[in-house]
Amino acid sequence: MINPEQYVLSNNVCKSNASLVINEFAKELKNISGKCMDVGCGPGDITRHILLPVLNSKATMIGTDIMENVVEYANKTYGDKERLEFEVLNIQTKKLPEKYISKFDHIFSFHALQWCYDIRQTFKNIYCMLRPGKTMLILSIAQQGALFESLETMAQNIRYASYMGDKKKYVGPFHYSARPGENLKELLEDTGFQVHHCSHREMSNCISTKKFLSFVTSQYTFAFLDKMPHNLREEFKNEFTRMYMEINVKEYRDRQGNYKLHDEEKETDIPAAYTIILVAYAQKNVS
Ligand SMILES: C[S@@+](CC[C@H](N)C(=O)[O-])C[C@H]1O[C@@H](n2cnc3c(N)ncnc32)[C@H](O)[C@@H]1O
Repeated sequence: MINPEQYVLSNNVCKSNASLVINEFAKELKNISGKCMDVGCGPGDITRHILLPVLNSKATMIGTDIMENVVEYANKTYGDKERLEFEVLNIQTKKLPEKYISKFDHIFSFHALQWCYDIRQTFKNIYCMLRPGKTMLILSIAQQGALFESLETMAQNIRYASYMGDKKKYVGPFHYSARPGENLKELLEDTGFQVHHCSHREMSNCISTKKFLSFVTSQYTFAFLDKMPHNLREEFKNEFTRMYMEINVKEYRDRQGNYKLHDEEKETDIPAAYTIILVAYAQKNVS
């Protein structure tokens, strides 16, 4: 996330998704005390105002994120020495710091794991950080054609490829799966988790394309934009917006039975469709 202040002002959809899930599992969460982690916490507003209040008042939390400036902002804005601190951690690392191993009573992750292309290593790390018998609750974007597929195409374009790197980084690990819920459950079981709940749900949003893309491009995954010369960056943004809208309109028409849009101007207001995977209470085995 390049600009945490901007992100906090435009993350209403994330706040509402997080609240929805938290309310659904409030009964289980309120008994959680001890040490918790929020992986990919971003600027920390959701960690502070939505996650922490639902836990037992004895629970403490470390919010972790790959972006140093985001962690700095979170510590300054929402941190306190008693219950909530923020630290830098790349959840895909192959060298998990010793201080995190088997130390956590619960781990959350909301709207972050879709950017983890090494999803097996990611869950392995989450598993390692939990104490035996302890739990995680995650929410991740599973499929979002307009976003992932336009980025995947752009990453293969010779003009942008050297800045963007491997196209895998831009496509959620379950995007092309025909059975994302089942595949995630299998992966978690393979990792050693006992899965108490895993569901795949359809969602859609009435956020304008302009707002959505400004929100999305403020994130870590788009840090490559800073390395592009000004002209190329503008060209990238225009092309990305064009491609995003084209796929979004096509998907919308398919969903509406090929409904013809009367006013093409309104294409920017077509709700973005995406699906989420939700896993609640996947639990580390006791032994
Ligand atoms: C869409 S934001 C989600 C923030 C917050 N959890 C929410 O629900 O609004 C995704 C966050 O994941 C972080 N992120 C992306 N890849 C990561 C990684 N490999 N390790 C840790 N954090 C990562 C980004 O820096 C960003 O802050």
